[in-house]
Amino acid sequence: MKSIDKLNSYQRIHTQWSGLFDPNVPLISNLSNASALLYKELKPWWVGFYLVEGDDLYLGPFQGPVACTRIPKGKGVCGSSWEKQATIIVPDVHKFPGHIACSEISNSEIVIPIFHNGDVWGVLDIDSADFNTFDEVDALELEKFCASLTFK
Ligand code: SME
Repeated sequence: MKSIDKLNSYQRIHTQWSGLFDPNVPLISNLSNASALLYKELKPWWVGFYLVEGDDLYLGPFQGPVACTRIPKGKGVCGSSWEKQATIIVPDVHKFPGHIACSEISNSEIVIPIFHNGDVWGVLDIDSADFNTFDEVDALELEKFCASLTFK
């Protein structure tokens, strides 16, 4: 996607999300709509949430093909993002040590940790069938998006 198209997509995402997000419904309802909105606008191979429970991440709302259901802390891109509390951009998943391949189609990936009171409660994971899909624009815009995923 060209940079200008990418920025337009994120603009549409932020605008629609401000109308869709409802702080008065359960988190799972907001995450379900969030994954559908990101899937529609970014057209990735896969987009979804993994949610922290104990020492593992468990599959949450997503759009795309079936995926692995449990990822231990520190494992794969998702578990590493949680452990490092940092966004991870992976231009080529085949070169990421310990990458967990839920699908052979995926070639690049971005994972953003989501915080509440300083603790990570989940991650947003987006997979692309192309190499080198995600950059700093995605990181910044998706971090902004994830910061809006609040709950009581
Ligand atoms: N590739 C991820 C696993 C989740 S799937 O991509 C949906 C990882 O390495 O953590």
